[in-house]
Amino acid sequence: KKVVLAYSGGLDTSAIIPWLKENYDGCEVVAFCADVGQGEEELAGIQEKAIASGASECHVVDLKEEFVKDYIYPILKTGAVYEGQYLLGTSMARPVIAKAHVEVALKVGADAVCHGCTGKGNDQVRFESCFAALAPQLKVIAPWREWDMVSREDLLAYLAERNIPCAASLTKIYSRDANAWHISHEGGELEDPWCEPSKEVWTMTVDPMDAPDTPDSVTLSFEQGELVKVDGHSLTPYQALVYLNDKAAAHGVGRIDIVENRLVGMKSRGCYETPGGTVLMAAYKGLESLILDKESLKFRESVGLEFSHVIYDGRWFTPLAKAQLAACETFAENISGDVVVKLYKGQAIVTQRRSPNSLYSEEFATFGEDDVYDQKHAEGFIRLFSLSSRIGALKAQEK
Ligand code: ARG
Ligand code: SIN
Repeated sequence: KKVVLAYSGGLDTSAIIPWLKENYDGCEVVAFCADVGQGEEELAGIQEKAIASGASECHVVDLKEEFVKDYIYPILKTGAVYEGQYLLGTSMARPVIAKAHVEVALKVGADAVCHGCTGKGNDQVRFESCFAALAPQLKVIAPWREWDMVSREDLLAYLAERNIPCAASLTKIYSRDANAWHISHEGGELEDPWCEPSKEVWTMTVDPMDAPDTPDSVTLSFEQGELVKVDGHSLTPYQALVYLNDKAAAHGVGRIDIVENRLVGMKSRGCYETPGGTVLMAAYKGLESLILDKESLKFRESVGLEFSHVIYDGRWFTPLAKAQLAACETFAENISGDVVVKLYKGQAIVTQRRSPNSLYSEEFATFGEDDVYDQKHAEGFIRLFSLSSRIGALKAQEK
């Protein structure tokens, strides 16, 4: 018997290793760790930690470029934003992690996969939905839904009883999830939606109150919906995101504080920091505004709204997701050009945009004199456009 565990090096997944061996008749536990750009700190010494906790091997898989290129970029093209604000940072990373997890499981000949998500959240649903779509034969083990440990004290005691070293501290206030796109913060005082987040919540961005008084700006160049240059530098997708994160974080861009509807029915309060992503999304939409006609944009927006739920709910590996992505890919073929975004005290504001595919015509739009548009034509248009209102009102007057 062999289980591949999604291992983070934290307290929960460290306790899961011995727990699996004891509760699944001495199974072999292989640790799997996805590098989605969560940072050096979380990954440092992770292999040694996993072995020290009793894993037989530890596979660290670098997914950084794949995550940005094959997940974030396509999602960006749909414009998906969950419930009007959340840029879906945790949700977006789940499919790429689950896919690599399954690949390790198949490679080492495991019969089961295991994750450290709680039984109250979205992540369990996302991971397991991906597993179901990719390798339905694998058994899924979710210790948080099985064991009766409830606190960090319980977990630390469990490890201490087994003489397993663990550097985790007794107090850890927030539940955080980080990757190249964002970091999320939940728990602690945030569980009270009336409680303003303390300064300690935020880890990725400068407080907008402390941000520089001088604005900065960044130029993004897109070709067929893909970011190809940032401030004139050709960078890989992941490098470009890191670059944008650095610049935007320094100006406090990308913080949100929201109450959201979880898939499992409850509401939860979370704070999120998505500095580079906020700039990228604003830039992309800024370019779209030049290029997409009214009906195309309306359709793209409706797909984005639907797709935000598809991503949030963990339905990446479905025919529906594929169809929605394909629709937005079609629009994206025309999304080429440059956008300048100004960064100032928590704001990312598009101030310049240009595109070879622009439908914008100064000649037509000008408030000044023109000889391309006859204003008299508007009169007949409005008569017909409002005809049903006119008929309705006339009928009402007859009564
Ligand atoms: N509420 C967010 C989401 O569902 C963030 C979840 C954070 N996950 C975590 N394991 N800490 O996408
Ligand atoms: C968890 O419950 O494991 C994290 C939060 C979530 O998945 O929504």
